[in-house]
Amino acid sequence: MTKTFYITTPIYYPNGEPHLGHAYTTLCADVLARYHRLAGDDTFFLTGTDEHGVKMVKTAAEKGIEPRQLADINVKIFEDLWKELHITHDDFIRTTSDRHKQGVQAIVQQMLDKGDIYLGAYEGWYDEGQEEFVTETEAKTRNFLAFNKKPLVRYAEPTWFFRLSKYAPQVQQYIEAHPQFIQPESRRNEVLSKLKQGVDDLSISRATLKWGIPLPNDPQHVIYVWIDALSNYITALGYGVGENQASGGRVHPPYEKYWPVNVHLIGKEILWLHAVYWPAMLFSINQLPPHQVFAHGWWTADGRKMSKTEGNFIDIEKLRADISKFGLDTLRYYLLRAAPFGNDLDFSETDLAAAHVELGNVLGNCLNRVLNIINKNRDGALPAAAALEDLDRSLQERTQNLAAELAQAYDRLELQQCALLPIELARATNGYIDSTAPWKLAKDPAQSARLDTVLNLATQAMYTALIALLPILPEKAAAGLAQLGIDTTGKTLTELFATPLAAGHQVGMGSPLFPKVEG
Ligand code: MSP
Repeated sequence: MTKTFYITTPIYYPNGEPHLGHAYTTLCADVLARYHRLAGDDTFFLTGTDEHGVKMVKTAAEKGIEPRQLADINVKIFEDLWKELHITHDDFIRTTSDRHKQGVQAIVQQMLDKGDIYLGAYEGWYDEGQEEFVTETEAKTRNFLAFNKKPLVRYAEPTWFFRLSKYAPQVQQYIEAHPQFIQPESRRNEVLSKLKQGVDDLSISRATLKWGIPLPNDPQHVIYVWIDALSNYITALGYGVGENQASGGRVHPPYEKYWPVNVHLIGKEILWLHAVYWPAMLFSINQLPPHQVFAHGWWTADGRKMSKTEGNFIDIEKLRADISKFGLDTLRYYLLRAAPFGNDLDFSETDLAAAHVELGNVLGNCLNRVLNIINKNRDGALPAAAALEDLDRSLQERTQNLAAELAQAYDRLELQQCALLPIELARATNGYIDSTAPWKLAKDPAQSARLDTVLNLATQAMYTALIALLPILPEKAAAGLAQLGIDTTGKTLTELFATPLAAGHQVGMGSPLFPKVEG
């Protein structure tokens, strides 16, 4: 039976234009989705926008427009950017869509039916940038400042509460029993220790806000934006969405098929909501919790988190400039290569340029060398390998091990490794060519069989490295494979890896995959 793979990004606030931080999560998710599709898994990749809440209302008011208008303007920019970045999402969910609103109301109704929601009054602090309640103790430690350094806001109003405290022990047990649930490991410990300090019930409605989804039992209140937002991961699969309402009659991929999600990819600042609120909500409505929440690090600029409020981010214009200079695939490679996945990363133009040079010198150059020698000495036909020496065996072994190493790295979400493993194979191949010096072998007819072996092994290694790079360098790896005379259309990774190039295979001509960038 085909495995399924469901992956999500956070749904982003369209209170402004997207920046590198948003593009990063989405590109990483895209790499994972492409890998799983290529691996033959039935893959579903979801992204979208989180359009309710006080932040949207306030930003719209500052601009003198309605929140819906603000959302429409920016959602288009998000969607266009994903097109431009060749993101392969299968669905884009907006929390203002009917299908989502209907699904959220159904979810909250189930929580009500379960007796998990009650009326009370909230008095305390709120972080309007993060749309998060802040406890008194936390507020003190933070000097009454929000995450974005603006003052925390005091709320005092009647509100409906969700019995989060009832589910906290179950959430804790789930985290403890499933080490893969919160990754990386260090983040899991942070969540556990915070959970052990105890949690209050959660205020889940606002009577003073009009911009949101009405609470089914008390339409004067709108549903708290995080309850609304987290639900997207299942409303997009049709959960709670009546058949007639399913977004203009479009058929949704069935919830039963893809839930529980394989990976919720998020930034580390929203881990608590995904690792505690979200499973608690799912337990309340008797649904399974996510298989994994992976919290990656932040892009910083001079050590400070890149964000709209800080005004220090790599914006769309900057991203476009980098893409037109180095190409989209170099950007994808750089973002993954910059640090072990999960760590913070500091954006540097110098490192981006270095990543491009590395791709050119290691991958592009090696492919070119191999193609030139085969074309020059064997009329472009791949020779069969003859007797193997130790040096050959060592390269052959590395080539044959790549598929398994790659599968393991993808399985563990070690995205930096996913990028580096094939590049290291190409580097080894370059070294192998240096050591075996095929251009010298070509001059000596007595070394003809030796030349055949070298050419065969070096080509198989490059073929394997390029296949492995397809999810990360979709355009360049396919172009490299085309130079090798391979069309990957419709083939799975397993098929490709399992089918080395046959002797006699006709390769094409080489041309630089990563042209030098001036300046
Ligand atoms: N709307 C909520 C998420 C709801 S999910 C049910 C939200 N939106 S956001 O627009 O603020 O986007 C936050 C996400 O954008 C982060 O979790 C991360 O994926 C990405 N990033 C934003 N800034 C970032 C960096 N500086 N570095 C890396 N990723 C960052 O929170």
